[in-house]
Amino acid sequence: MRDAQPQAIRLADYQPSAFSISSVTLDFDLYDERTFVKSTLNLAREGGKDVPLVLDGQELKLLSLSVDGRELNSDEYSLDPDSLTISNVPDHFELQILTEIHPETNTSLEGLYRSRTMFCTQCEAEGFRKITYYLDRPDVMSVFTVSITADSERYPVLLSNGNQIEAAPLENGRHRVVWHDPHKKPAYLFALVAGDLAHIEDSFTTASGDAVTLRIFVEPKDLNKCDFAMDALKRSMRWDEEVYGREYDLELFNIVAVDDFNMGAMENKSLNIFNTSAVLASPDVTTDQGYQRVEAIVAHEYFHNWSGNRVTCRDWFQLSLKEGFTVFRDSQFSSDMGSAAVKRIEDVTLLRTAQFAEDAGPMSHPVRPDSFIEISNFYTLTVYEKGAEVVRMLHTLLGPELFRKGSDLYFDRHDGQAVTCDDFVAAMEAVSGIDLTQFKRWYSQSGTPVVRATGSYDAEKKRYSLTLSQSCPPTPGQSVKQPFDIPVLMGLVGSRGNLSFALVDTASEQRSDTEALLRLTQAEQTFEFDDVEEQPVPALFRGFSAPVRIQADWSIDDLQRLITSEEDGFLRWDALQTLALLAVDEAISGREKAALSALIASIQAMLEQDGDRAVLATSLILPSENYIAEVHSQSQGADPIAIHTARESVKASLATALIDHFEVLANITIEGAYAPEGAAIAERALRLTALDYLRFVQPDKAADIAISLLEKSDNLTDRLGALRTLGAVGGKRAEVAFDAFYRRFADEPLVVNQWFQIQAMNPYGDALARVTRLLAHPAYDNLNPNKIRSVVGAFCSANPVQFHASSGQGYALLADVVIDLNKKNPQIAARLLAPLTKWRNYPNYAQRMKVELERIAAQENLSKDVFEVVSKSLAS
Ligand code: BES
Ligand code: ZN
Repeated sequence: MRDAQPQAIRLADYQPSAFSISSVTLDFDLYDERTFVKSTLNLAREGGKDVPLVLDGQELKLLSLSVDGRELNSDEYSLDPDSLTISNVPDHFELQILTEIHPETNTSLEGLYRSRTMFCTQCEAEGFRKITYYLDRPDVMSVFTVSITADSERYPVLLSNGNQIEAAPLENGRHRVVWHDPHKKPAYLFALVAGDLAHIEDSFTTASGDAVTLRIFVEPKDLNKCDFAMDALKRSMRWDEEVYGREYDLELFNIVAVDDFNMGAMENKSLNIFNTSAVLASPDVTTDQGYQRVEAIVAHEYFHNWSGNRVTCRDWFQLSLKEGFTVFRDSQFSSDMGSAAVKRIEDVTLLRTAQFAEDAGPMSHPVRPDSFIEISNFYTLTVYEKGAEVVRMLHTLLGPELFRKGSDLYFDRHDGQAVTCDDFVAAMEAVSGIDLTQFKRWYSQSGTPVVRATGSYDAEKKRYSLTLSQSCPPTPGQSVKQPFDIPVLMGLVGSRGNLSFALVDTASEQRSDTEALLRLTQAEQTFEFDDVEEQPVPALFRGFSAPVRIQADWSIDDLQRLITSEEDGFLRWDALQTLALLAVDEAISGREKAALSALIASIQAMLEQDGDRAVLATSLILPSENYIAEVHSQSQGADPIAIHTARESVKASLATALIDHFEVLANITIEGAYAPEGAAIAERALRLTALDYLRFVQPDKAADIAISLLEKSDNLTDRLGALRTLGAVGGKRAEVAFDAFYRRFADEPLVVNQWFQIQAMNPYGDALARVTRLLAHPAYDNLNPNKIRSVVGAFCSANPVQFHASSGQGYALLADVVIDLNKKNPQIAARLLAPLTKWRNYPNYAQRMKVELERIAAQENLSKDVFEVVSKSLAS
């Protein structure tokens, strides 16, 4: 353990900055073995207090420091590992700082670093302080002018934010380019790129008629993989104008793809930097899911130009202000671009599987956290996905028109400001007149609320009473919770379909004959419905209208009624999932197979109907092992090996019972050349899912189909699906196919990553041995986040049966990797740790998991990132 334990930073301690910076000029002089940064700041004292100037800075070598042109002596300032303090400064002054930094040895991928042949930056959240001394906080906003000097031949392209205002060759083979960004911004939105890059260019005309030049910069070899992202960018720009009335505000918008990146992408003002995996796309390197991910991330980063850049966060506790809202916006965009039903199912599945688990674990925190040790650890599913659900609930409560009015008011009121989640809610309150005081508990209380539902029907009075009660389990630092304001979008299902009703309650809202929006605000409430013709089954939380766990004790008959007769597609799917969960539980406990029979009958009916093919494809997929484990953790605790075995047996039963259907579907032909477009995506998903069932009954036939897909198909979706099937069937043919595939795509890193991932996720055979081999593979790189995630991340978080097997060797492997990365890349090290932190969910495995956490905790020199996750996980 480190000697001085890192201290938590608290929201309650927030103070405005004692100084402002009206403008900043940065001069970068890039060399192979060092970089010089000269920063000139125009500072002004704010609030009149006679306090010293304290600038943030880390891993910097200070070369000189001057105030209003006079160089300071070493007794006029003091340095510590995280800051520079200048004790006596005037109220207005110019500060010039010269520092030396070392991007060439920066493996943390924060600040200025090298990725392959280029220089690039990542400053969010607190990376700018690794570039120069600064007030590195989002509420200090300034106008940036940036000059970059570098070798002309190796770095012909020099980029920063805003507009290029100068470019000139210099002597000795170097050149300089100057950029100016007229919009005030916090330092976390600063970016710089230097490299030998190729680009594609396009243009966009805003609704007001302004022309915008759009460029995507990549390594020359990737120039043929930019078109899809460019198209997604233009569609995002148009969509944000149409749906939110937001136009772009500069003449240039650049995207750069880099191979070494901790996250997916970053919204730096007019210079978005993307992980290659989140922007490059072609049928050979990108799956259908990959295309959808590129589209969503391009949109997300573009949307930040308003929700994040024009209006930014006051402090990092408000992170969900920009991230939750922007995830909500990108999910609306994706729904509009593709299958809305499938998008909702995917979002809810992620939320329930991973966010619910986070919120029930040692790192549980509110959407607006109260404290953190390392802010990088709070780019979480809670801030992002639950934060987006909170915005979605506002959208449900206000309806689309008022919500739009609220967002207009928010952008209008706070343009150019750094604000809080309260400001966002205040705008929604102002336009709607709805009291959102209680609603704001969604921002401050952690944990997933549980809603219990019971109903009774009075046939004589034709009256149905629905009693809903809510509770929320204790979470770290919050032992008692107040009731949430929960929007329950619902209906009633009779034997032949949805029933009309007359809602008696007035605090809630009847939205149609068959739909009401209940507002559950108390610990327990009873809602009365009149004119109900028969005993109904309640259909609760249509579209998953609130991020809660629902306990309703449905009978199998109730679930079947929901599956066949409920009008909301999300709830039909949800009932089918619940039935599948029951079938898995039956298999674990060896009970009678009532749920299994009902599940088979329901799926058979869907296969025989002429329904939406995308929804059908999703519906054939059973709840994941991780989701089942999350559900079990709420009661008896989870056993990943038992879960795997039981889920396999349910799959095998479905395969046997419905083999004729699966055989037909596994053999469908898909017309035309590859296009990542709705109908074809659904057909490919159906074919591959059917193939996965077929292998349970006819493994050889399934392998034949897989091999023919590998040979004949024109796209990565089919090829990877085929490899996955072969990996499951195993044997010599599989081995040969995997080797041949690698040889064919060895020079496409993005494909190699997915090839790694499929092997790490394969639940069959000896995955630990496979992963150990992959870690020694020549294409592996223990400093590249995409590679680490493809092998270690995939194995530990997406292959639970193997990660938890092998008498704890999976845990030891993860701990070894985390210890190795702790100093090299603390952000990635801390993120990889997540699966181990869930040790309390696995009673029979917990001890071994804990041993590895303790081994990490005992290391000297833990980074703040790893220290926070490990210490919170072990705290009782
Ligand atoms: N602002 C983030 C990127 C970021 C996060 C940088 C944490 C530094 C630290 C960006 O807008 C983002 O949220 N990216 C997501 C993708 C998005 C579609 C949710 C990512 O990178 O995964
Ligand atoms: Zn974001």
